[in-house]
Amino acid sequence: MSEKNQNKKRVLTGITTSGIPHLGNLSGAVLPAIEASKKNNVSSFLFLADYHSLIKNINPELTHSSSFEIAACWLACGLDPEQVTFYRQSDVPHIFELTWILNCLAAKGLMNRAHAYKAAVAENDNAVDPDKGITMGLYNYPILMAADILMFKADIVPVGQDQKQHIEMTRDIALRFNHHYGDILSVPEAMIDEKKGIIPGSDGRKMSKSYNNTIPIFDTSKKLKKLIMKIKTNSLEPGVPKDPNECSVFKIFQAFGNEDEVLNLNKKYENGIAWGEAKEELFNLLEEKIKPFRSEYEKITQDKSYIEKTLKEGAQKALNISTPVIEEIRKAIGIKEFK
Ligand code: TRP
Repeated sequence: MSEKNQNKKRVLTGITTSGIPHLGNLSGAVLPAIEASKKNNVSSFLFLADYHSLIKNINPELTHSSSFEIAACWLACGLDPEQVTFYRQSDVPHIFELTWILNCLAAKGLMNRAHAYKAAVAENDNAVDPDKGITMGLYNYPILMAADILMFKADIVPVGQDQKQHIEMTRDIALRFNHHYGDILSVPEAMIDEKKGIIPGSDGRKMSKSYNNTIPIFDTSKKLKKLIMKIKTNSLEPGVPKDPNECSVFKIFQAFGNEDEVLNLNKKYENGIAWGEAKEELFNLLEEKIKPFRSEYEKITQDKSYIEKTLKEGAQKALNISTPVIEEIRKAIGIKEFK
């Protein structure tokens, strides 16, 4: 059995592959997870949540292309596949087996309280059937996510603030499993960077594929500039001091700039920087940060077989870990050989 190395913390995170890689993915998951993966006392599991994407998207071409683009994004931004376990969720069938097992333990009431499900019900606005148009996939989303995490006995899960509830549900389900079947699953902790975690999109709401307000990472400079110039701001004139805390441009800047750069822009806000200028500052900063990733991305996406091979190797590493864990789980729940 490949036992867990007690000196190393397991850090695990995934990205749902239902759109093109955007700045929110970069600041919320990709960069912090790659940074954490370089530490000696960490063993990282980074993956493409491709089955999660079906909840948001039923277009097979988009499912496929998004998965490829997000894989290339991780690699272009510096993920070292030798150092981390990098895989597609769909390559690890044990996750889906565990999903069913957890389904049988998780309280339905717990899922009723999930923010995403409640938001979908609220959108139905007192329709005769409040569940109109809501799939079991959306409803069960947190359980698949729990299986992603518990399958690999992850200790730490870096996520955006919006995913906090899912980690709490995962903990709840893991504790319930352990209570019934013995101390098998690790109870994970969420790691949330309040400052850099969630960034607003061009309309001021959280940057998300669902809101159609994302700023893609790997578009041309020209397109990047155009999108930045379109970010919503208030109508304060140049020369009037501006509040950085209420400003999407500043929030995005803060997620990518270092301390000095952020302080510097803060001062300019106090001195009444013009919005056009603030956006220019943001564009320059992003150009500088993204440029190296962009050229790497161009290179990597030329070589599909390299990406495929890397993910296959990652899947093998993942399976080496998930196989003994699922065997342990099956035995504990009484699904085992007669002898
Ligand atoms: N739900 C996460 C998101 O949309 C993606 C995800 C799926 C995930 N499984 C996970 C994140 C497991 C962390 C751990 O952002």
